[in-house]
Amino acid sequence: MRHRDVLVVGGAGFVGRHVVAALAARGLRVTVPARRRERARALLTLPTVEVVQADVGQPGVLERLAAGRDAVVNLAGVLHSRRGRADERGPNDYGPDFARVHVELAQAAVNACHAAGVKRLLHMSALGADAQAPSEYLRSKAIGERAALAAEDIAVTVFQPSVIFGPEDAFLNLFAQLARFVPVLAVPSPDALFQPVYVRDVAEAFVAALDDRETRGKRYGLCGPRRYTLRELIEAVCAMTGRRRLVLGLGPRLSGLQARVLELSPVKLLTRDNLRSMQVPSVCEAPFPFGIQPAALEAVAPAWLGPAGPRARYTGLRSHAGR
Ligand SMILES: NC(=O)c1ccc[n+]([C@@H]2O[C@H](COP(=O)([O-])OP(=O)(O)OC[C@H]3O[C@@H](n4cnc5c(N)ncnc54)[C@H](OP(=O)(O)O)[C@@H]3O)[C@@H](O)[C@H]2O)c1
Repeated sequence: MRHRDVLVVGGAGFVGRHVVAALAARGLRVTVPARRRERARALLTLPTVEVVQADVGQPGVLERLAAGRDAVVNLAGVLHSRRGRADERGPNDYGPDFARVHVELAQAAVNACHAAGVKRLLHMSALGADAQAPSEYLRSKAIGERAALAAEDIAVTVFQPSVIFGPEDAFLNLFAQLARFVPVLAVPSPDALFQPVYVRDVAEAFVAALDDRETRGKRYGLCGPRRYTLRELIEAVCAMTGRRRLVLGLGPRLSGLQARVLELSPVKLLTRDNLRSMQVPSVCEAPFPFGIQPAALEAVAPAWLGPAGPRARYTGLRSHAGR
């Protein structure tokens, strides 16, 4: 490959670990900054990968890390933000964490590429990103991808996936866990549309784009082969776990109330901003790019969501041990 030395910002996260592994599998040298090195332990054994304990939000850090690389991949993102004071909110009205990660860090990645002479940037956005979108998440993602695409003298490619599934995802695994313990699942915005995409296909799309000149200045939606409403998705997950569960769709008022209550928990499961994101169908009009045939949820997810999957066995062992 032409780009042989890559910095992957956000490489220690769920998607990042797969992107880094896919790049390393092609023999590329990959550097992964992580605020907590132990979060990237799955990457430490990969021979061409170096994990660096670093906070890329600190001045000068990204420039230093980008120096000498052939390409930068920016996967940093957050699903929730503190609300923040009025003076902390961006011009498009989003919270300070969205501003810091989706907007400022996206611009900082561009600036670091300029400073270090890096000519290739792959940027992760989200399907539905739009400056007029109903949620802060999607508005801030739109400003970030606009900053990336506006970069002069840098070949930028932007990716917009629907919800991403994989063995360690935080979305379907959450519902699978709930299905193991509760008989009734109350689903907010049950008619929200998704076209879930397998994390390995997302990683392969990044690898395929890296050296492909045709992808410069373009945005690619990344979706799996099938559309689901949120209710259908959760019913599919329940079926995979082998449990018959009642899936109850909540109306708009109860969905809002549920989000308002869950927002108060220290681990944010759902926020009102997430609900607003779900007003925008997270589906693709075009087929998956690069000639990749995306995997169907039902074809791969039973390996980890199924009754004999690792998570179910772990839960069984815990309960056997009385924990
Ligand atoms: N998962 C999905 O279904 C999905 C769907 C559409 C788009 N996306 C986008 O895909 C990207 C990766 O998502 P993911 O699911 O892999 O999320 P994740 O597991 O939470 O990983 C997010 C990464 O972003 C980094 N990050 C967050 N806040 C940061 C900050 N203040 N400074 C520096 N780095 C920061 C984290 O760095 P540390 O390792 O240092 O903590 C982490 O590596 C995100 O941009 C997300 O918006 C995801």
